[in-house]
Amino acid sequence: MMGRFEIPAEKVPAVGARSLLNIAGRSLALFNVDGQLYVINDACPHQGASLLGGHLEGRSIRCCAHGLRFDLASGYLLNSTLLKVESYPVHEVDGRVFIVIEESLI
Ligand code: FES
Repeated sequence: MMGRFEIPAEKVPAVGARSLLNIAGRSLALFNVDGQLYVINDACPHQGASLLGGHLEGRSIRCCAHGLRFDLASGYLLNSTLLKVESYPVHEVDGRVFIVIEESLI
Protein backbone atom coordinates (compact mmCIF):
# COMPACT_ATOMS: atom_id res chain seq x y z
CA MET A 1 0.00 0.00 0.00
CA MET A 2 1.22 3.48 -0.85
CA GLY A 3 1.43 6.39 1.55
CA ARG A 4 2.83 9.88 1.67
CA PHE A 5 5.96 10.95 3.48
CA GLU A 6 6.43 14.65 4.10
CA ILE A 7 9.91 15.87 3.24
CA PRO A 8 11.18 18.09 6.05
CA ALA A 9 11.43 21.68 4.76
CA GLU A 10 15.19 21.81 5.42
CA LYS A 11 15.67 18.76 3.17
CA VAL A 12 13.85 20.22 0.18
CA PRO A 13 16.67 21.25 -2.20
CA ALA A 14 16.75 24.71 -3.74
CA VAL A 15 16.66 25.09 -7.54
CA GLY A 16 19.77 23.44 -8.97
CA ALA A 17 20.60 21.73 -5.67
CA ARG A 18 20.24 18.19 -4.32
CA SER A 19 19.90 16.57 -0.92
CA LEU A 20 19.96 13.18 0.75
CA LEU A 21 17.09 11.77 2.77
CA ASN A 22 17.11 8.60 4.85
CA ILE A 23 13.79 6.81 5.31
CA ALA A 24 13.70 3.52 7.20
CA GLY A 25 17.28 2.72 6.29
CA ARG A 26 16.82 3.59 2.64
CA SER A 27 18.78 6.49 1.14
CA LEU A 28 16.91 8.70 -1.29
CA ALA A 29 18.45 11.36 -3.51
CA LEU A 30 16.38 14.51 -4.08
CA PHE A 31 17.06 16.82 -7.02
CA ASN A 32 15.55 20.18 -7.89
CA VAL A 33 15.83 20.74 -11.64
CA ASP A 34 14.40 24.10 -12.69
CA GLY A 35 11.94 24.05 -9.79
CA GLN A 36 10.76 20.48 -10.41
CA LEU A 37 11.59 17.99 -7.65
CA TYR A 38 12.68 14.42 -8.40
CA VAL A 39 13.33 11.62 -5.92
CA ILE A 40 15.21 8.40 -6.67
CA ASN A 41 16.98 5.72 -4.67
CA ASP A 42 20.54 6.79 -4.01
CA ALA A 43 21.90 3.55 -5.41
CA CYS A 44 22.75 2.96 -9.05
CA PRO A 45 21.01 -0.19 -10.32
CA HIS A 46 24.22 -1.16 -12.15
CA GLN A 47 26.61 -1.71 -9.25
CA GLY A 48 25.16 0.34 -6.42
CA ALA A 49 27.20 3.56 -6.56
CA SER A 50 25.64 6.66 -5.05
CA LEU A 51 23.77 8.76 -7.60
CA LEU A 52 23.55 11.83 -5.35
CA GLY A 53 26.96 13.05 -6.49
CA GLY A 54 26.38 12.22 -10.15
CA HIS A 55 26.56 14.75 -12.96
CA LEU A 56 23.23 16.39 -13.79
CA GLU A 57 22.49 16.87 -17.48
CA GLY A 58 19.08 18.47 -17.73
CA ARG A 59 16.67 15.96 -16.24
CA SER A 60 19.13 13.06 -16.30
CA ILE A 61 21.78 11.99 -13.83
CA ARG A 62 25.07 10.41 -14.94
CA CYS A 63 26.52 7.91 -12.48
CA CYS A 64 30.07 8.75 -11.44
CA ALA A 65 31.13 5.11 -11.38
CA HIS A 66 30.67 3.97 -14.99
CA GLY A 67 28.77 6.79 -16.64
CA LEU A 68 25.31 5.28 -17.11
CA ARG A 69 22.64 7.96 -17.36
CA PHE A 70 19.15 7.75 -15.88
CA ASP A 71 16.05 9.83 -16.43
CA LEU A 72 15.15 11.34 -13.06
CA ALA A 73 11.41 11.27 -13.80
CA SER A 74 11.01 7.66 -14.95
CA GLY A 75 14.13 6.19 -13.37
CA TYR A 76 14.96 4.37 -16.61
CA LEU A 77 18.34 4.19 -18.23
CA LEU A 78 18.29 6.76 -21.05
CA ASN A 79 16.92 5.32 -24.29
CA SER A 80 16.26 1.96 -22.67
CA THR A 81 13.88 0.15 -20.36
CA LEU A 82 16.40 -2.53 -19.40
CA LEU A 83 17.65 -0.88 -16.22
CA LYS A 84 15.77 1.32 -13.79
CA VAL A 85 16.49 3.10 -10.55
CA GLU A 86 13.45 3.35 -8.28
CA SER A 87 11.87 6.78 -8.59
CA TYR A 88 9.08 8.25 -6.49
CA PRO A 89 6.27 10.66 -7.33
CA VAL A 90 6.46 14.02 -5.58
CA HIS A 91 3.42 16.12 -4.64
CA GLU A 92 3.39 19.68 -3.41
CA VAL A 93 0.41 20.80 -1.33
CA ASP A 94 0.24 24.29 0.17
CA GLY A 95 4.01 24.63 0.18
CA ARG A 96 4.56 21.22 1.78
CA VAL A 97 6.31 18.52 -0.21
CA PHE A 98 5.42 14.82 -0.06
CA ILE A 99 6.92 11.67 -1.54
CA VAL A 100 4.53 8.87 -2.51
CA ILE A 101 6.14 5.75 -1.15
CA GLU A 102 5.30 2.25 0.12
CA GLU A 103 3.77 2.60 3.56
CA SER A 104 6.02 -0.13 4.94
CA LEU A 105 8.98 2.20 4.38
CA ILE A 106 7.50 5.17 6.22
S1 FES B 1 27.53 1.71 -10.67
FE1 FES B 1 26.49 3.29 -11.75
S2 FES B 1 27.10 3.02 -13.80
FE2 FES B 1 28.08 1.42 -12.74
